Amino acid sequence: MGNAQLIADIGKLKKDRNAVILVHNYQLPEVQDIGDILGDSLGLSREAARTKAEVVVFCGVHFMAETAAILCPKKKVLIPDASSGCPMADMITADQLRAFKKEHPGAPVVTYVNSSAEVKAESDYCCTSANSVQVVNSVKEDTILFVPDKYLGAYTAKKTGKKLILWDGYCPTHAKILPEHILQKKKEYPGALVMAHPECRQEVCALADVVCSTEGFITYSKKAKAADIVLATEIGMLYRLKKLVPEKNFIAASETALCPNMKKNTLEKVLWALQDMKTEVKVTEAIRVRAKKAIDRMLAAG
Ligand code: 13P
Ligand code: SF4
Repeated sequence: MGNAQLIADIGKLKKDRNAVILVHNYQLPEVQDIGDILGDSLGLSREAARTKAEVVVFCGVHFMAETAAILCPKKKVLIPDASSGCPMADMITADQLRAFKKEHPGAPVVTYVNSSAEVKAESDYCCTSANSVQVVNSVKEDTILFVPDKYLGAYTAKKTGKKLILWDGYCPTHAKILPEHILQKKKEYPGALVMAHPECRQEVCALADVVCSTEGFITYSKKAKAADIVLATEIGMLYRLKKLVPEKNFIAASETALCPNMKKNTLEKVLWALQDMKTEVKVTEAIRVRAKKAIDRMLAAG
């Protein structure tokens, strides 16, 4: 079936099912093109919480759809490919977090949204890459456990001046971007603006002019004076940026920064998800209620 037919079928079924399609900024171009709402983890969580649709098709990785399911217990949250996980989220389990808390009694836990519902349920606060600084600043204690991303944690500690005790997790995709890649691009494009996602290594963030979430890249690109913009993040981001800010020349810091999980959702799988309504993401009520408390604090932090 060609893309035009797939898109028409998806559009029809979406209406019949009263569904909304939420799409993360790293998804395949053709999936981005059928999204009702595109955005970063924070923006999409907010959209999931406020949508009137009965069905949410979440084109992203599993923890994102799970967050939507936590926020919308009455809605059906479908993920087109149920195997699209996030390796960083898998780097800490609820048991490991419980043991970590025992080692540091009294320290509150701030958990990056890239984590399982069980881990969120053990946490005091969640945050995303867009609001980790605001969330950590909203915590009254100065010593905080931060899981699972050690790079976002290090960046947030630097920005807030608080003592964050870090878990040794990281994003394998962003870790592929090395400082030498940035230095090389700076040489090739003198005067270029360098933007990095805070999941990048500290040495990479240190070389960037701007460190922000995927949606932040759009805001900063629109305002940027430089004609060339080097982007240290997953390469799927380039499609949306080129479309929204066509006057700029976007350059990937490294073409190897590709998240295979983000590319698992295809148009066919979106259609099948809407047809079969089987790839639903569910969270048990006991976990959901506890995880929601931490997520609500994330949404309240701005
Ligand atoms: P954003 O919240 O910035 O979109 O990032 C999510 C993510 O998984 C980045 O790797
Ligand atoms: Fe997880 Fe990294 Fe992929 Fe984001 S890019 S979903 S953090 S593996």
